[in-house]
Amino acid sequence: MDVDLVVVGAGLFGLTVAERMAVQRGRRVLLVDRRPVIGGNCFSEVDAATGIEVHRYGTHVFHTSNEGVWAYVNRFTRFTAYRHRVRTVHRGEVFPMPVNLATINQFFRTALRPDDARALIRAQAGASDPAAARDLETRAIALLGRPLYEAFVRDYTAKQWRTDPRLLPASVLSRLPLRFDYEDCYFEDRYQGVPVDGYTAWAERMVDDPRIEVRLGTDFLDPTQPVSRAAVAGRVPVVYTGPLDAYFDHAEGELSWRTLDLEFEVHPVGDFQGTSVMNYADADTAFTRIHEFRHLHPERSYPRDRTVIAREFSRRATRADEPYYPVSSTADRAALLRYRAAARAEPGVTFGGRLGSYQYLDMHMAIASALTLADRL
Ligand code: FDA
Repeated sequence: MDVDLVVVGAGLFGLTVAERMAVQRGRRVLLVDRRPVIGGNCFSEVDAATGIEVHRYGTHVFHTSNEGVWAYVNRFTRFTAYRHRVRTVHRGEVFPMPVNLATINQFFRTALRPDDARALIRAQAGASDPAAARDLETRAIALLGRPLYEAFVRDYTAKQWRTDPRLLPASVLSRLPLRFDYEDCYFEDRYQGVPVDGYTAWAERMVDDPRIEVRLGTDFLDPTQPVSRAAVAGRVPVVYTGPLDAYFDHAEGELSWRTLDLEFEVHPVGDFQGTSVMNYADADTAFTRIHEFRHLHPERSYPRDRTVIAREFSRRATRADEPYYPVSSTADRAALLRYRAAARAEPGVTFGGRLGSYQYLDMHMAIASALTLADRL
């Protein structure tokens, strides 16, 4: 095989490694992905029925405060001025998320100032230390107090994990954003937006170099493929961004993931819900969120008589499903240590990205980590 490096996975991690190794280091790179498209989970495309760009794996909004990452991504795309604002439906009312002063005042039917709201939440949260909590419910109550926990966290979390929050480890919830002002922008980073012409156009520009060959529909773990673990490993250096346990044929056990089922629907209205993401906090609604993609691009002229939405359902992933969020149970963390040892011992293969590291990574984190790896390779 006449290449210097094989990169497995054309998500943002693999794209960044491929681009840097080719453009900065002059290497010939073969980038493979088992899907028929590039971009990994950020993949976006124009919906044929409406002309509206949809994010097939859930809403993606770029955000970072990392100057280096921001400068790097701007080589390939410009970003819109979109700011993400999420709402949640609870008992027939719509509240801003994450919980801020408007949420608190609407929920308690008050007009509290910041310090009064702080005192109220402190009194409701009680004296227990969130860091000492062992289960998710105890930690969330110690952070938010019981009324807000029961309204906005308990049933939503139970739907996400299909488990009673009292049975989930506290580590699932490392922090709960809680604001005592009226700031309702979901992300706090300095730079935010959506790529002006979509994620796929951005991804395509990253591999637009004669030294990068892209082969789609190629599963690296399928030994019948010409570019596979069996054919390549040990002969050409590999950067692998697929699932860590799958690479080792699950020899150390299965790492558990949550997956999402997104049910896309076209509706004959110009605006279905007035915003891009609406959460559903209550147990009597089976889905967790509704995405409405037209709102990600208010600057575009989309049709006024059609819109496309996706209802999101969450559940444990089987091997056949797309892995989305690592579960990271105690058993998973023990297996992960064994896999990391195996990964270090695997000659010529470097593991990275959210699947290869078994870590939830935002886009800017995946890119930052790939830039570091490309410097090191
Ligand atoms: P990614 O999963 O994108 O790419 C891995 C690629 O490897 C895939 O294309 C896969 O097909 C391929 N692959 C796997 N096994 C293979 C094999 N055996 N052979 C060949 N190819 C193989 N981030 C953010 O910053 N803002 C946001 O708004 C969101 N929103 C969001 C919503 C949802 C629902 C999720 C799950 C995630 C987000 N993210 C996000 C995170 C974002 O999706 C994440 O940062 C990137 O996908 C990480 O890129 P990777 O390249 O690591 O993985």
